[in-house]
Amino acid sequence: MFRLISVIGARPQFIKAAALSRAIRNRYSDKIEDIIVHTGQHYDPGMSDVFFNEMEISKPRFSLEIGPGKHGEQTGRMLLKIEEVLMKEKPDAVLVYGDTNSTLAASLAASKIHIPVIHVEAGLRSFNKSMPEELNRILSDHVSTLLFAPTQTAVDNLKAEGITSTGDSRKAGKDSPLVFHCGDVMYDNHVYYSAISSDKTDIIKRYDLTAGGFHLLTVHRDTNTDDPVRLKSILSAILQLADSGEKFVFPVHPRTLKMLESSHNDELNSKVRGHKNIILIPPASFFEILELEKNCKMIFTDSGGVQKEAFFNKKPCIVLRAETEWKELVETGNVTLTDADSVRILDSFQEFSNRKDFSFPPLYGDGHAAEFICEKILSTL
Ligand code: UD1
Repeated sequence: MFRLISVIGARPQFIKAAALSRAIRNRYSDKIEDIIVHTGQHYDPGMSDVFFNEMEISKPRFSLEIGPGKHGEQTGRMLLKIEEVLMKEKPDAVLVYGDTNSTLAASLAASKIHIPVIHVEAGLRSFNKSMPEELNRILSDHVSTLLFAPTQTAVDNLKAEGITSTGDSRKAGKDSPLVFHCGDVMYDNHVYYSAISSDKTDIIKRYDLTAGGFHLLTVHRDTNTDDPVRLKSILSAILQLADSGEKFVFPVHPRTLKMLESSHNDELNSKVRGHKNIILIPPASFFEILELEKNCKMIFTDSGGVQKEAFFNKKPCIVLRAETEWKELVETGNVTLTDADSVRILDSFQEFSNRKDFSFPPLYGDGHAAEFICEKILSTL
């Protein structure tokens, strides 16, 4: 039995882990032991438990309860506790997802004690090193033994940094990593859950929404939430659109809630909350967000995951950032980068509203990335 520890801690990782847990449960339960370590980076029930319950992710065997903190502090506390678990459990490999502080802490802890690191969603780059996520993903990639890149762009990014498959392509080692272009586990989830989500949640009815009658808004990046000028610029564009009759559903991330409620945002907060066309709701579950994505007209977001889900659900998407790690989305013309610039947000909204010719080519695999990952883990480690 291959003993695989997956370290997860933040909302997008729970969602990605669902795809792997499902593949292991259905096809590899006699070959791979799925051991989950939850760092506790996200801890509110709506940011964590709900995903374990509705997505049937293996229950965490270890909950480290790290909670919030400054970047160094949070990552450092995780590093300490993850190392303890790894020394005790002695897994065959440690699997990490994406780019959060939980990813970096687990990659470092494992690689330092010579446990192979498997990075799922390797090779993504925003080329903006002031983002904590960019540092986390670069550093994790460089200590990984198996790198699963969701797109060709990601494979090329790794190559540009000198990370390519070296040596025997059937055996991975610390100094001979293997890179695989495998598709996106988020697309696996989309295929699997979109067939059932409408039976699992009544969110559309609950908020009296109609298909095509609203837009979805999410904002959570610290660069947008913690800078009052940027937050105001984004939300004033939304307020302007809401004034002209456009309706928005806005699931509010805890970070965004904290910032909206802080005194320097008093005026903005009351305008947004008081607007009849802006519906603020608590963080959405996976089924809820999927139903909102399926039924909305357009998506406004600064999330890496949501911009891709917009594409999976064939919706145009305005990305409230200056750059993206998913540049092939922008090349399709369905996703546009507006940064936090209200004029660009409004212009892009008009452009998308007037356009009819959207096309959504298959970019993210065949919906079986998780099985591919399991196969390669078993054959190369
Ligand atoms: C983290 C990731 C980001 C990912 C995002 C998804 C890093 C550096 N950032 O950002 O890449 O896109 O998760 O959500 O790892 N909080 C709560 N309850 C919770 C979780 C967080 O109140 O359940 C609060 C924290 O106390 C903190 C703030 O929200 O004040 C931010 O949480 P944190 O985990 O530091 O970063 P995110 O903004 O969620």
